[in-house]
Amino acid sequence: MIQHKLSLIRDKNTGPKEFRELLEEVAMLMAYEVTRDLPLEDTEVETPIGLAHTKVIAGKKLAVVPILRAGLGMVGGILRLIPAAKVGHIGLYRDPESLAPVEYFCKLPADIEERDIILVDPMLATGGSAVAGVNFLKQRGARSIKLMCLIAAPEGIKALQAAHTDVDIFTAAVDERLNEHAYIVPGLGDAGDRLYGTR
Ligand code: PRP
Ligand code: URA
Repeated sequence: MIQHKLSLIRDKNTGPKEFRELLEEVAMLMAYEVTRDLPLEDTEVETPIGLAHTKVIAGKKLAVVPILRAGLGMVGGILRLIPAAKVGHIGLYRDPESLAPVEYFCKLPADIEERDIILVDPMLATGGSAVAGVNFLKQRGARSIKLMCLIAAPEGIKALQAAHTDVDIFTAAVDERLNEHAYIVPGLGDAGDRLYGTR
């Protein structure tokens, strides 16, 4: 389902409404994979017929942290699966000349250092934004971070793995390369613009 929906998301004829819906759906499906290793503990519940010995998540606290703007497009889908997660926001944009990430906003849950964090951004291109996002989180005490993206370039994976060996990357696709403007080829274009119709 993720691959099918990703094909529709990539299509240049897919408009912002459909793009937003599809990105949320894929994020929800990926949240299943990202939470696969959450620890469980035993519990008991009374069913209408008898006592069931079952499992629940072992009190792990989660936080979802989108990198603005495009990461916002994945938050709703993840929260549908994990409604109790807290949400933080990191505002970053790529300077078009230097391609370096510029911070303009950061607001995180007060107990961020106690939470397992899912950092979300659909595009991992040079990796500059993801590395900066992880840096912010670690500066504020975060210790357990996973990155969920939609499309990654080999260059971005290499950069994030070199900077933060402890951060696992979950991506729906690894594309060929970056072009001369550091856009992912074939990618999907500019994720923020396609989500919000700004170009
Ligand atoms: C896009 C995308 C990532 C970043 C990836 O954001 O959402 O945050 O580029 O590129 P990188 O791996 O080379 O850093 P952009 O800077 O276009 O900002 P926007 O989401 O506000 O449009
Ligand atoms: N940011 C995007 O939105 N798209 C890319 O291909 C690269 C960075």
